[in-house]
Amino acid sequence: MDWAKLGFSYRKTNYNVRCYYRNGSWGELEVHSEETIPMHMAASCLHYGQEAFEGLKCYRCKDGKVRLFRVADNGRRMASSSEYLQMAVLPVERFIEAVHKVVSLNEEFIPPYESGASLYIRPFLIGTGAQVGVKPADEYLFVVFVSPVGPYFKGEGEITMCLEHTYDRAAPHGTGHVKAGGNYGASLTAYVESHKNGFDGVIYLDPKEKKYIDEVGAANFFGIKEGTYVTPESPSILPSITNKSLCAIAEDMGLKVERRHIPYQELDTFEEAGACGTAAVITQINNIFDPQSGKTYKFRTGADTWSHKLYQRLVDIQHGEAEDKFGWVTTL
Ligand code: PLP
Ligand code: COI
Repeated sequence: MDWAKLGFSYRKTNYNVRCYYRNGSWGELEVHSEETIPMHMAASCLHYGQEAFEGLKCYRCKDGKVRLFRVADNGRRMASSSEYLQMAVLPVERFIEAVHKVVSLNEEFIPPYESGASLYIRPFLIGTGAQVGVKPADEYLFVVFVSPVGPYFKGEGEITMCLEHTYDRAAPHGTGHVKAGGNYGASLTAYVESHKNGFDGVIYLDPKEKKYIDEVGAANFFGIKEGTYVTPESPSILPSITNKSLCAIAEDMGLKVERRHIPYQELDTFEEAGACGTAAVITQINNIFDPQSGKTYKFRTGADTWSHKLYQRLVDIQHGEAEDKFGWVTTL
């Protein structure tokens, strides 16, 4: 495997781990090597979107250990997504056990230290019970697979984005705050159109008033100005575990932290802007184009930025090279 050349795509590994919910209870964890899932054609995930997923990474570190970042938080978020979509809730301990198991079984696919790649872990939960009426299924399947991945965004670690005035990924009181597959299906037209127009993706505005910054595609937004880390407060964005971590790190590094509405015109006053998430880590934004006004907002990028300092500290904690004072990291 040419680890350094990996992009963010699916690669076959040896095993995945599954757990079925039937007759009102969860079964044992099962190890599978096939990549397909047999299921009823009327499964609720196929028709009514009973699907939620998670994304986290593990890292092979300098000391030879394998580290996971905030896995329990992903387990809790999956539980809250499951509750919102009226699906069976997998206990967080079982979630963690499944993640540990799938990583151990596929250890040979964890990219080497300093390769720039990591092992992406994709847990998901689907309604498998047959339903023709619109109501929750009575059977569910939880699966975790892994795939070695490189950077999410192509290019030199900087992206150019476009403000999205037309499409929303989620409704004002909808599913934006949970990790439902449907949100991503709803984002594909905006994604494809933005790429056709030469951008790396879109920045969604709040779906109610279209005034405030919501999300950067599949990542949270942050901006830096006057020694302050500013990130949106919104009921329609996913509560990013990376962003929560960056808020704590920023404060620890002496930045002020504000979680609040960000009117998009305020972009003019930001010195730096970025996208943060498990897949994106921190990706610096160099330009944001507003098709409505024709204006391009420009931001500082590169190594001499707060964004880079935050990135470095986050990655060092994830690799066991900076003190884990918040207790985020577990070893396998
Ligand atoms: N926002 C969206 C829509 C996402 O899909 C993700 C990815 O999980 C994030 C934000 C970042 O969340 P996290 O940092 O927990 O990966
Ligand atoms: C992640 O950051 O883990 C994501 O889920 C983003 C995307 C690949 C859906």
